[in-house]
Amino acid sequence: MALFSKSKKDAITCFDVDKLPVHIGIIMDGNGRWAKKRGLPRKAGHSAGAKTFRKITRYCSDIGIKYLTVYAFSTENWKRPQDEVNSLMKLFKSYLEEALEDFKDDSIVVKFIGDKSPFNEDLRNLMIENEESSKDRDGMVLNIAMNYGSRDEIVRAVKNICNDVKNGTKSIDSIDEQMVSSYLYTSGQPDPDLIIRPSGEYRISNFLLWQSAYTEFVIMNKLWPDFEESDLDEALITYSNRNRRYGGV
Ligand code: IPE
Ligand code: IPE
Ligand code: MG
Repeated sequence: MALFSKSKKDAITCFDVDKLPVHIGIIMDGNGRWAKKRGLPRKAGHSAGAKTFRKITRYCSDIGIKYLTVYAFSTENWKRPQDEVNSLMKLFKSYLEEALEDFKDDSIVVKFIGDKSPFNEDLRNLMIENEESSKDRDGMVLNIAMNYGSRDEIVRAVKNICNDVKNGTKSIDSIDEQMVSSYLYTSGQPDPDLIIRPSGEYRISNFLLWQSAYTEFVIMNKLWPDFEESDLDEALITYSNRNRRYGGV
């Protein structure tokens, strides 16, 4: 069955519904460069990026994507200048208070992946509230990666597995790939089929390392605040033309 792009009214057939990724990951990169190009402070780029996040999340939900994971703040992003970190925290707070309300209409289930503990209490409570209030919805699962780092995620999983072996709930023989996956933040979710990185950087930057073993990557030159629905269509078309072999022939 063919799916028509919703981003352009006169769109031609774009891709096969059967070839739509179940899970998309997006590294929302390029906010700083977008602001710099306009002579604006970096925080203006982050605000513009937050609007794009809202738009693209809606679009993914509209076209029937089941899981979307967006990289919002990495475990390494704390090394940025304090005023940039502060403005990002402010932005996250206003987003969690307002914009995430919007996702109610689309029945989006909101989850945060990453370690919540370094965030201030207000922000942590808002994250928990958003997770709690959306958990029984039946729409797209939106994972927001905040203070997320895949190495940190794997270290935590290893520690938790060791603890469970030590206290006798798990045996060493029961450790396999599926079990390790179940100790990650994305437990119970399918691995991403497609990861999109705007801003033209060819790197993974500590995002979903374990989960992306067989993920298709699409690097795009647009900076995240400029990213449009039609750019997502383009990535989906590229993805639908890939031949995924998983090591087979
Ligand atoms: C991504 O945009 C947002 C975060 C990492 C929080 P950047 O801020 O990394 O933008 P560039 O890469 O400097 O342009
Ligand atoms: C990755 O972008 C993290 C997010 C988009 C949140 P960075 O801008 O932090 O990555 P590097 O530094 O270019 O690798
Ligand atoms: Mg960047």
